[in-house]
Amino acid sequence: MNVAAVILAAGKGTRMRSSMPKVLHPILGKPMASYAIQAARQAVGTTPVLVIGYEADRVRQTLGEDADYVVQDPQLGTGHAVQQAQDLLQGKADFVLVTTADMPLLTPETLRSLVAAQQEHDGLISMLTVYAEDPRGFGRIVRSPTGQVQAIVEEAQATPEQLKIRELNPSMYCFKSAWLWDALKRVPLSPKGEYYLTDLVGIAVADGGSVLAIPVKDPTETIGINTRLHLAEAEALLRRRINRDWMLAGVTMIDPNCTYIEPDVVIGIDTVIWPNTYLQGSTKIGEGCEIGPNAIIRDCQVGDRCKILTSDMDRAVLEDDVDVGPFARLRKGAHLGSGVHVGNFGEVKDSTLGPGTKMGHFSYIGNATIGSQVNIGAGTITCNYDGEKKHATEIGSEVFIGSDTMLVAPLKLGKGSRTGAGSVVTKDVPEDTLVVGMPARAIKKLRKRD
Ligand code: UD1
Ligand code: MG
Repeated sequence: MNVAAVILAAGKGTRMRSSMPKVLHPILGKPMASYAIQAARQAVGTTPVLVIGYEADRVRQTLGEDADYVVQDPQLGTGHAVQQAQDLLQGKADFVLVTTADMPLLTPETLRSLVAAQQEHDGLISMLTVYAEDPRGFGRIVRSPTGQVQAIVEEAQATPEQLKIRELNPSMYCFKSAWLWDALKRVPLSPKGEYYLTDLVGIAVADGGSVLAIPVKDPTETIGINTRLHLAEAEALLRRRINRDWMLAGVTMIDPNCTYIEPDVVIGIDTVIWPNTYLQGSTKIGEGCEIGPNAIIRDCQVGDRCKILTSDMDRAVLEDDVDVGPFARLRKGAHLGSGVHVGNFGEVKDSTLGPGTKMGHFSYIGNATIGSQVNIGAGTITCNYDGEKKHATEIGSEVFIGSDTMLVAPLKLGKGSRTGAGSVVTKDVPEDTLVVGMPARAIKKLRKRD
């Protein structure tokens, strides 16, 4: 039986004190709402419907095709919010899962168990509940003396007796659709002037239908974000969860409290991660690597047995046995072949370094294609920019570039050629030729090749 998901995200999130809608605040590099979207999608198998309102265009633009959207304007409460999805969903699904966009720790497994419970029981609503000593303003679950769920009472309307209840409403429900849309029309206006989704529980009971409550096993899953303090707490918990999973999967972390791994990162076994390391975006790290301390690696592919020490890397590709840093900067399009060494204060952008090439100290390589076993002396610069355009440098295999060489692109250095220290190379260098000076001139044929 098919299930649709609706995620509530129309509110402003006033307590964030932000010009950005609450649901777009990033957690480990992703907008808060994308966690709820992903969890709901995994639980129901279809694209969730996000109810947006405050800064709707900005939310839609940021989250793109990850969700379908309906706009709630004005925002008249959570019940009214779900109603906005009626035209899109009525008659299309047997069940409707409703969640909120500000609980990023909720797992797909928990949502799946909620959906499964509703599919298996012949009632109108299944809902999650959570037991917690600090009620955090959540609605209270009111049960009958025999333990049947009777109603959800909002904190503002609760009696002193009801305020003592510690079974709380995290606001995750799965409804029988055939009943839901009509029942929403019967939700009364609250004293606050809103239509509360929570009133559906009382309505279901009055209709003679059963409401199933499923307590969540791990209460931290239901930490909702209202302030930036909650944001930091949620991020820390999520980070801990990710780090724990990687450690159990065979990755060593010297200090997991100081290791920052985003959710889409992949890491091979026997890799050791030193503190203050950030693995971000779509980064993939191979097996047996040593990463950090102090490495920031964004959207990179790293092969097996690589060593990366105190460096910043963005959209770079490293094959196996590559050794980087300390203080290297690899930018977009840097591709380091197997066994490459990039040492301190080296910068590489849009360039390929062939297998075994070494670049030990203080160099800038941009828009270059470099062969294998090349030695790039300290202070080598590819002068790739003439003020208007970028130009390419091609360096053959086994070239030896002397310290402080300026390679004025466009330029080709033939296989086996050498440059003297301090050369300013403005013309192509033939194979096996030594050039020196400024501008560099050939002084010697180094060897004859057949
Ligand atoms: C709601 C529940 C409360 C529960 C708590 C858990 C109701 C009436 N109360 O209270 O029982 O314990 O969540 O966090 O549902 N939203 C809209 N449109 C609106 C109003 C809200 O989309 O018109 C969205 C918000 O953006 C948010 C979610 O619904 O994502 C919850 O709204 P919020 O105002 O935070 O409700 P709570 O007071 O927290
Ligand atoms: Mg709330």
